[in-house]
Amino acid sequence: MKKLVINGGVPLFGRVRVSGSKNAALPIIFSSLALRGISRIKGLADIGDVRVALDLIGCYGAKVKREGRDTLIDTTTLKYVSPPPELTSMLRASTYLMGASLIRFGRAELVNHGGCNFSARPIDMHLDALASHGAVIAGDVISGGRLVPSVVRFKKRSVGATVNALISAAGIEGESVIEGCALEPHIFVLVDYLRSAGASISFVGDRATVRGGELSGAEVSIPGDMIEAGSYVAASIASGGRVQVQGFDRSELSSFIEALGASGVSFEDGEDVVAYGKPARRFSVCAAPYPGFPTDLQPVVAPLMSFAGGCLKDEVWRERFGYLDGLGAFGLRSRALGDMREVFPSELHPARAYAPDLRGGFAMLLAALMADGESEIYNADVILRGYENITEKLSGLGAEISLCEM
Ligand code: EPZ
Repeated sequence: MKKLVINGGVPLFGRVRVSGSKNAALPIIFSSLALRGISRIKGLADIGDVRVALDLIGCYGAKVKREGRDTLIDTTTLKYVSPPPELTSMLRASTYLMGASLIRFGRAELVNHGGCNFSARPIDMHLDALASHGAVIAGDVISGGRLVPSVVRFKKRSVGATVNALISAAGIEGESVIEGCALEPHIFVLVDYLRSAGASISFVGDRATVRGGELSGAEVSIPGDMIEAGSYVAASIASGGRVQVQGFDRSELSSFIEALGASGVSFEDGEDVVAYGKPARRFSVCAAPYPGFPTDLQPVVAPLMSFAGGCLKDEVWRERFGYLDGLGAFGLRSRALGDMREVFPSELHPARAYAPDLRGGFAMLLAALMADGESEIYNADVILRGYENITEKLSGLGAEISLCEM
C-alpha cells in the first residue's frame, strides 16, 4: 500500500497538461476484443486502471505493444478464457468484457466487477441490452447462440450500459437502435473507434442507430481527461494559486466552471482553464448526467466549500457522500439534509486519513494541500488508478508532495 505525504499551505502556480481520459480509454481497450486485427490507440494514460484493462485483454491472447504514446493491440488470434476475478474485481469497467466477449466468442460470463465502492452499482441495464440481442443469461453464463439486431430502450442514463449496448450492436449484422444513451464525451470516443472498425453509427439526441457487422482493427485518439482537468482546477483554487490547465476540451467543463464562477472564482477566457480567487460565496452543485455537473467532480469540489459553505446533491449516485467522513478528519464540517449534504465554512487542518476511493481520495489530497502542515493519505493506490504522474504534476506546480510505500 502506498501513502502520499503532503506539506500543505503552498499556493500552486504554473501549467499542467492533463493525460488521456480514463473513462474514454477503458471502453476502447475492452471493445478491442470485439475487433479482429491490429488497432492503434493514441494517448493512453499510464494509470492503474489502464494497466489492469490491458492485462485483462492480454488474458484472451491480445498482444499489446507500446510505441511511444501509441498503444498497438493485436486481436487477430484470441482464445476464450473465464474472466480472471483477481483482475476483474479491480475495476468496474471490466463489465465491458461482457459485450465484447459475447461478440467475439459468442459467450461471456457475469463479471465479478470491482471499482470505486461508493454506492450500489447494478448491472441490470447492461444485461437487458445483451438479452435484447438474444443472449441467454443463465446463472453466471451468458450465451450468444445467434445474436440478432434489436431495439434497446434504457430507463435511465448509464455510461456502462450504453458502452455494452454500443459494442454489442456494432458487432451484430444488421440495424439496432439504442434509445436513452448516455451522452458523456467518452461515449463518442467509443463511437469513433467502432466507426473506424467498420460499424455505421448515427445519433439523433440520445437515440443511436447502429449498423453492425464484422469489426476490424481500428484507430482512435484518446482526448484529455475532463475529470483530471477539473481536479487540477480545483487544486489551483484550493491552494490560492493560479494554474493553467491544458490539453482538454474546455466546453466539457462548462457546468463545473459555471458552478465555481457563481461562487466568486474568476476564470480567464481562452482555450485552457485558468482559475483564480477563492469561493467568496456559498455555492451548490447537483451532479447529473452530461452535460450536467459531473458526478466524478462532486467529491472534488467539497473541500472548496470549506471557504464559504455549500450544498451537494448527486442525481447519478445518490449516496456518493461517504468520502465526507474522511474529510471530517481534516476539519471539514458537513451534515445530511435529506438527500443533500450541507457543508459549513470550516478551518482545515492537517490529518492522517485513508483514501476511500479515486475521487474521494483526490478530495482528501485537496484538503491536505489546503491545510498548513504535514498530512498523510493512506491507500493512495486508489488515487493512482486514475491520475497519471500525480506527484510529478503537483510538484511541478510547487506542491510539497511525495509518494512512498507504507
Ligand atoms: C461510469 O460508471 C464511470 N466509470 C464513473 O466514474 C462515473 O461516476 C459514472 O459513469 C457516471 O458518470 C467508468 O467510466 C469506468 P453508470 P458506470 O452506469 O458506467 C445506474 C470515476 O470516478 N445504473 O453511468 O458504472 C447506477 O446505479 C468513476 O472515474 C443502473 O441502475 O456508471 C447509477 O445510478 C466512478 N443499472 C447510474 O445508473 C445499470 O445497469 C449511472 O451509472 C447501470 C447503471
